[in-house]
Amino acid sequence: MLEFFPPICYTYVWRFEASVFLQMLPYITKGKVFSMYKILKRRQLNENVVLMEVDAPFIAKKALAGQFIILRVDEKGERIPLTISDYDREKGTITIIFQIVGQTTMLLSQLKEGDALLDFVGPLGKATDFEGAKKVCVIGGGVGNAIAYPSAKQLFNEGVEVDVIAGFRNKDIVILEDEFKKASTNFYITTDDGSYGEKGFVTNKLQSLIDAGNKYDLVVAIGPVPMMKFVCEVTRPYGIKTLVSLNPIMIDGTGMCGGCRVNVGGEIKFACVDGPDFDGHLVNFDELMKRNSTYKEKEAHDREHCRLYKAEQ
Ligand SMILES: Cc1cc2nc3c(=O)[nH]c(=O)nc-3n(C[C@H](O)[C@H](O)[C@H](O)COP(=O)(O)OP(=O)(O)OC[C@H]3O[C@@H](n4cnc5c(N)ncnc54)[C@H](O)[C@@H]3O)c2cc1C
Ligand code: FES
Repeated sequence: MLEFFPPICYTYVWRFEASVFLQMLPYITKGKVFSMYKILKRRQLNENVVLMEVDAPFIAKKALAGQFIILRVDEKGERIPLTISDYDREKGTITIIFQIVGQTTMLLSQLKEGDALLDFVGPLGKATDFEGAKKVCVIGGGVGNAIAYPSAKQLFNEGVEVDVIAGFRNKDIVILEDEFKKASTNFYITTDDGSYGEKGFVTNKLQSLIDAGNKYDLVVAIGPVPMMKFVCEVTRPYGIKTLVSLNPIMIDGTGMCGGCRVNVGGEIKFACVDGPDFDGHLVNFDELMKRNSTYKEKEAHDREHCRLYKAEQ
């Protein structure tokens, strides 16, 4: 047979052997030796928020503020999107900062320096468009500050005047204070309970800065959906362009599954390829909140399972 159809048969044998080898690879290497995505640094920023610096030179080469990665911890893991919080092109590293909210972030938080991630895909999404901005107010809420930080840093490094308002529930969960101070013209912290910085919400501080005569040509707001919605209500009467970063459920992150669809100005957009940044004055936040709560019960079940599993270890 081989004599009659040599090229076809050799190709078949080669492909078969290659596919067997690829299937065996995770077992041979225990998923570690060939993985590029080694965790080089792990820092606990507060009880529920972790920073990780990951070795990912190809992503670091291209990453820009506003973009994200999708990772998988292991073969059985779910794919979750996390924003590129920082990058170092020379070292070839990507920094992610995540809040432990459910099963995957809980598993991720248990990894140590030297461990590796199975998948780490990016940079995904569009980079934030800061075109022509001269005076910008960057607003972060909770872990949203980790997503807001690269915008402040990029704008500040480009010589733009940047006021940052970082909002938290209380003093214990404040993150990135030193980093923001180095990446802003003026830096303000607000806490809901007044235990640090100014008492109140980020929207109160934004209103007082506008009342004091600050003329922003752009506001960037990133945090919980209700926070972004109310920031947009503050800026709307003044016509200040307001960018928000949306966080719908994402699956493939490449525009194919439709899981991340959002309603912007009455049009359906896919946050993974058309965003995740959008004009906040056009976003239907109520629809987004409704869609994001679709899997609440299943997520609570998985979270509980993960906690019990952790307790057994
Ligand atoms: C573009 C983008 C960037 C993000 N960047 C960050 C970040 O930098 N730091 C951070 O802490 N979080 C970020 N998130 C949210 C993060 O993806 C979720 O917290 C994470 O997926 C939760 O997974 P879990 O299994 O731990 O929790 P689960 O219990 O499964 O879910 C908890 C909540 O997380 C959200 N979520 C769950 N699965 C997904 C998914 N596949 N896609 C999107 N949201 C999901 C849902 O709102 C859900 O209610 C981002 C989300 C998006 C869409
Ligand atoms: S995540 Fe599938 S289309 Fe955006």
